[in-house]
Amino acid sequence: MKEQQTWSQRFESALHPAIALFNASIHFDIELIEYDITGSQAHAKMLAHTGIISQQEGEKLVAGLEEIRQEYRQGKFHPGVEAEDVHFAVERRLVEIVGDLGKKLHTARSRNDQVGTDTRLYLRNQIQQIRKQLREFQQVLLDIAEKHVETLIPGYTHLQRAQPLSLAHHLLAYFHMAQRDWERLGDVSRRVNISPLGCGALAGTTFPIDRHYTAKLLDFEGVYANSLDGVSDRDFAIEFLCATSLIMVHLSRLSEEVILWGSEEFGFVTLKDSCATGSSIMPQKKNPDVPELVRGKTGRVFGHLQAMLVMMKGLPLAYNKDLQEDKEGLFDSVNTVKACLEAMTILLQEGLEFRTQRLAEAVTQDFSNATDVADYLAARGVPFREAYNLVGKVVKISIAGGKLLKDLSLEEWQELHPAFAEDIYGAISPRQVVAARNSYGGTGFAQVKQALLAARAQMTTK
Ligand code: ARG
Repeated sequence: MKEQQTWSQRFESALHPAIALFNASIHFDIELIEYDITGSQAHAKMLAHTGIISQQEGEKLVAGLEEIRQEYRQGKFHPGVEAEDVHFAVERRLVEIVGDLGKKLHTARSRNDQVGTDTRLYLRNQIQQIRKQLREFQQVLLDIAEKHVETLIPGYTHLQRAQPLSLAHHLLAYFHMAQRDWERLGDVSRRVNISPLGCGALAGTTFPIDRHYTAKLLDFEGVYANSLDGVSDRDFAIEFLCATSLIMVHLSRLSEEVILWGSEEFGFVTLKDSCATGSSIMPQKKNPDVPELVRGKTGRVFGHLQAMLVMMKGLPLAYNKDLQEDKEGLFDSVNTVKACLEAMTILLQEGLEFRTQRLAEAVTQDFSNATDVADYLAARGVPFREAYNLVGKVVKISIAGGKLLKDLSLEEWQELHPAFAEDIYGAISPRQVVAARNSYGGTGFAQVKQALLAARAQMTTK
C-alpha cells in the first residue's frame, strides 16, 4: 500500500489507517472512472477555451487523461485506498504522467460537482442500455404473443378462475408494463442529463468558466441553474431507483406467474432444460430458479430506493459526505435490473413452452363462462342483476349435480328461463367466450390482433 498523504499543509499527520479505509470509496467508485476521465477532459478543454490555462496545457491534460483511460482498459491501473476515491486517483496519476501541470486540472472545480457529473454520465449511459434491454424483452413478448392469439388460457381474479383469455392478451399486459418502464426511463433521463459541472464546491467559482461549453462537450441538455442545488441534488438518482423498482415489480409479477404455471397443479408451461435446474436430492425435480431469483432480487432494488430516500431526507445544503453512500445501491440496482431483464428475456425466448393442449382443456373444465350466460340473458332484455342471480342458481345446481354449464340440456336451460335457446351452447364455448369480448382493450381475438399491431407500432417510437 502506498503511503497515506496528509491532506494539505493544514494537517500535521495522516489519517488513521482504519479511518482512511472507512472514508474511502475507491473500491466501488472505480466504476465511474471512464466518466470521470471524460468529464475531466471536458473541464480541461473548457479551461483552455476560456484562457484559464493555455491551449497547449489543455491538450497535454487531455492526452494525459486519455493515457489513464488506456491504462485502465488494459488492466494496468489499480489505485489503492490511499487514493481515497476515483477522482483523487485519476488526478494523482495525471500528475505522475504530465508532471506539475496535472495539478492545474482541479482549477475552478470541486470533487462535489465532479462526482455529480460522473454519476449523471454513468446513469445516462446505463439508462440507454436498460431501455434497449426493455425493447428486447418487449420484442420477445410480442413474438410469443403473435403465435398465441388463439391459444386460450384461464384468466384469474383473486387467483380463482374468472374468465378465459387469449394467451396473447395476457402476454401483452406485460408488454404494456414494459412500455411504461421504457417511457418512464426516458423521462427520468431528461433530468439525469443536466450538468452540475462548474457549480464548484457549493457556490460557483471565481474563474471565468463556461459551464455551457462543458455541458455541450458532454452532451448534457442543460446546466443546473443553482450551484447549491447542482452539487447536492440526487433526485435524478431517486427517480431512477423508482423506475427500476417498477421494472422489478413487473418482472417479479411475471416470475410469479411463470412459477405457478410451471407447477404440476397448473401445468400450463414446461420449463426447458436450458433454463431450469435440478435438485441435489430429489431426482425427479425441475426447478424454476430463474424466475425465483428475479422475484427474490426485487427486494434489494426496493431496498436501495428506500436507502437513498432516507439518506437524503435530513441533509442540509449543500454537499455532505453522506452523499458518497449514493453509489453502491445505484450500481447494484443497475446491475440487478440488467441481469434480471437479460435472464427473463432468455427464459421467455427459449426456456418456456406453453402446453397448448392442456390449456385448451383447462378452459373447458370450470364455470368461467358463467358471466356469458348472464350476458346472454341481459342481451335478451333480462335486467343484468336478475340474470346474474339466476345464473348463480344454475351454477349451484350444476355443482350439486356434478355438471358443468355445457352439460345442461336445453330443457333444463329453458326451465330456468324461457329466453334460452339452442345458441346458448355456442355462446358459452370457451372460444366464443373469448371472441365475444370485443370491447376496446378486451381479450376478443379481433381486439388482440389490433393490439398486436399497435404494440408493434409503439416499438418504433424513439
Ligand atoms: N468520494 C466522494 C463522493 O463520492 C467525492 C466527493 C467528495 N467531496 C468532499 N467534499 N469530500 O461523494
